[in-house]
Amino acid sequence: MQFYVDSANIDHIRHAAALGFISGVTTNPSLLAKEDPHIDPKIRILEIHKLVGGHLSVEVISTDFKGMVKEAEDILDWFPEATIKIPTIPEGLAACKILSKQNIPTNLTLIFSPTQAMAAENAGATYVSLFMGRLDDISFDSINVLKDICEIWDVQGYESQIIAASIRNPIHLIEAAKAGAHIATVPYNVLMQSIRHPLTDIGLKQFLDDYDRLQTERQKAIIL
Ligand code: G3P
Repeated sequence: MQFYVDSANIDHIRHAAALGFISGVTTNPSLLAKEDPHIDPKIRILEIHKLVGGHLSVEVISTDFKGMVKEAEDILDWFPEATIKIPTIPEGLAACKILSKQNIPTNLTLIFSPTQAMAAENAGATYVSLFMGRLDDISFDSINVLKDICEIWDVQGYESQIIAASIRNPIHLIEAAKAGAHIATVPYNVLMQSIRHPLTDIGLKQFLDDYDRLQTERQKAIIL
């Protein structure tokens, strides 16, 4: 399972990219709206791409299919490597079909059920994004939904990549990997939580302290 960063924060993305295990970034209008309003979102997106390379999903804000297709074309004019993120609504599926016929990569977002995911696959989506955290928020077990989607993908031989999105904690990551998601797109704080462990920090401190002690004792031994 690959890791993407789910963020539009340049400092977080810069740090995550430097860690060496991130292969893409997903953004959405809410994430962009959390950032400095003085910066044009287009500039921000190009800056992010420079840092990470690889996958970068950029979401359309139109809700009619012609508007979505037009917006996708506009995005591709200033950022040809974009994956176009489209909401999984009836108009979004129609837009996805048109874009997929032109080999334009799409990420069908705001998916909450296996049937939405299957519709996205059949409309030619490149990626299907299941929002796990938001399902759990309404007491609906997102892991079972993801397992169902992954099982269907296996049985049917579907080719789109399953993205586990709306990740809230490291358990989501483990369960997504076990279920067979191809990608997890992860907020920066969860990314950091998932690579840190108190025993690693304690163990490292112990190694460094012991090495210092060894050096001091060797110095003493040489003098004597
Ligand atoms: O990738 C989807 C994500 O941005 C939504 O996450 O935490 O707003 O549900 P959240």
